[in-house]
Amino acid sequence: MSLPAGNTPLRVGLIGFGAIGRSVATLLPAGAALGVLTRHRPDALPAGAEALADLEALLGWGPDVVIEAASAEAFANAAPACLARGIDVVAASVGALQDSALLERIVATCDKAGSRLVVPAGAVGGLDHIAAAALHPGTTVTYVSRKPPAAWTAELDAMGQTEAASRGEVSLYEGDAREAAARYPRNLNAGLTIALAAGFDRVRVRVVADPGVARNTHEILISGPLGTSTMSFCNTPDPANPKTSAITAYSLVAATLRRFGALQ
Ligand SMILES: NC(=O)c1ccc[n+]([C@@H]2O[C@H](COP(=O)([O-])OP(=O)(O)OC[C@H]3O[C@@H](n4cnc5c(N)ncnc54)[C@H](O)[C@@H]3O)[C@@H](O)[C@H]2O)c1
Repeated sequence: MSLPAGNTPLRVGLIGFGAIGRSVATLLPAGAALGVLTRHRPDALPAGAEALADLEALLGWGPDVVIEAASAEAFANAAPACLARGIDVVAASVGALQDSALLERIVATCDKAGSRLVVPAGAVGGLDHIAAAALHPGTTVTYVSRKPPAAWTAELDAMGQTEAASRGEVSLYEGDAREAAARYPRNLNAGLTIALAAGFDRVRVRVVADPGVARNTHEILISGPLGTSTMSFCNTPDPANPKTSAITAYSLVAATLRRFGALQ
């Protein structure tokens, strides 16, 4: 996809107007046209933004790019249709791609239509480094999601581990990124993002309830013949939705602008 011709403003379609969607709307460059597919009342939208009632209205509005910031279901429903029309999609709900049939369908659609699904770093970072290191067959990548026990109350109760988690870390899951995202769809977008960068067979995921962390923390450990690296992200929660890192919206907008930039 290239920049819109002449002085035509960039037309950004946005799906979802919750924590991420509202921030995205404020971060877009002045002059961008914004159409929002939302369940909120149109008067909640920023001045000048157009409320779009459904997917057909979004497609008919003619976006240059669509930013999905709604849910895994919304992504699975809307992304293939946008991509089939040649419209790039920048997605937040990448956990939906744990469904390998959906992933295959999206790749085939992009190949046919010449569109691209952009998977931004979201709550983590360093995808370029992960993708480069993972080209070497000896590289392994481990992603560890650490959250305070309060984020896993129901899961710890079901495991009979509530008391143990108040004293030390409790492992909720260890395995591959697909199953982790299938088990915890709202929480494991980052694991899926890393697996898409490195390859699913290369990534191990751990999900940990840890009384030693005050905030949701993401650790990425890369190890192999090319060296070792450790990345750790401790993000500020979005005030509108504490489960979401505030930086996610910034990552979506940065990825969108990069997609249209001369330098990739
Ligand atoms: N990639 C990442 O690193 C990352 C990080 C945080 C959150 N996420 C994902 O981003 C998504 C949005 O997160 P959020 O914090 O903004 O959630 P949120 O609950 O604050 O907002 C989501 C909004 O989307 C709306 N919505 C849901 N389905 C819709 C549909 N079909 N059409 C129109 N609107 C719809 C909801 O009504 C809500 O207003 C979630 O799927 C979340 O898992 C990804």
